Amino acid sequence: MILLDGKKTSAELKVEITEAVKELKKQGKKTPHLAAILVGTDGASMTYVNAKVKACEMVGFNSTLIDLPEETSEEKLLQEIENLNTNNDIDGFIVQLPLPKHIDEQKVLMAVNPDKDVDGFHPTNVGRMTLDLPSFLPATPYGILELLERYKVETSGKQVVVIGRSHIVGRPMSILMSQKRPAGDATVTVAHSRTKNLKELTLQADIIVAALGIPEFLTGDMVKDGVTIIDVGITRIDDETKKAGYRLAGDVHFESVAPKSSFITPVPGGVGPMTIAMLMKNTLLACERKS
Ligand code: GUN
Repeated sequence: MILLDGKKTSAELKVEITEAVKELKKQGKKTPHLAAILVGTDGASMTYVNAKVKACEMVGFNSTLIDLPEETSEEKLLQEIENLNTNNDIDGFIVQLPLPKHIDEQKVLMAVNPDKDVDGFHPTNVGRMTLDLPSFLPATPYGILELLERYKVETSGKQVVVIGRSHIVGRPMSILMSQKRPAGDATVTVAHSRTKNLKELTLQADIIVAALGIPEFLTGDMVKDGVTIIDVGITRIDDETKKAGYRLAGDVHFESVAPKSSFITPVPGGVGPMTIAMLMKNTLLACERKS
């Protein structure tokens, strides 16, 4: 069993990005600048956004955090987005999800200039991705492709089961892995909450991407020997024995699945750090495209 080490791989990626930033500066070009909008005080979202800002510092980007209160109106948020759309110094920006219930997420994502949409959530980028045209790939699926590629996990002709059909992970993952591309050329099945014969499907899978958001859902009896496991889940579970008061659990029951796997991502330290590294990569790309 080989651990797909996202912490190590993302550190390597950050070194590569840092070098690219130095090169841009040497050529007298602008420093990449990422902005993030956070609405409200959700603990996990605050942690993720802070990690994104810290990653910017590490690779030599400029960053701006726009921290808005929970009660921010949709109109005010749309105004902030328009300011970022028209601010020439900002190369890319993200609106951290989920948003408070009174805000229409679809409307907000549609308002982002597709050229600055480094999350790849705007319909223009989703459409371009689907048609194999150059686009910003959503960071989590992009990070998974990068991990599979760097660890030389064979995907061509393999049976992949993606559990979960979210717009952020499951759906784009299934599209990308079925395309003719590195870490692609796979035969992909998308399973979800209405799937009737899930265990039958997972038992046949060469690669399973678990992205359904139910902690420790995928267990050892559901996978075949030699499977590759990508665990996208990250849920806080109350645990008084921990200093933070919680522990992080993936969608995979690691203890029973790992012994049967050829490759597996840990949680934490697997997909999570890759997501942040790929956001940096997209921001670099957005900056380079402009110059
Ligand atoms: N919430 C969970 N994942 C993501 C992500 O990749 N981007 C944004 N903006 N919000 C998220």
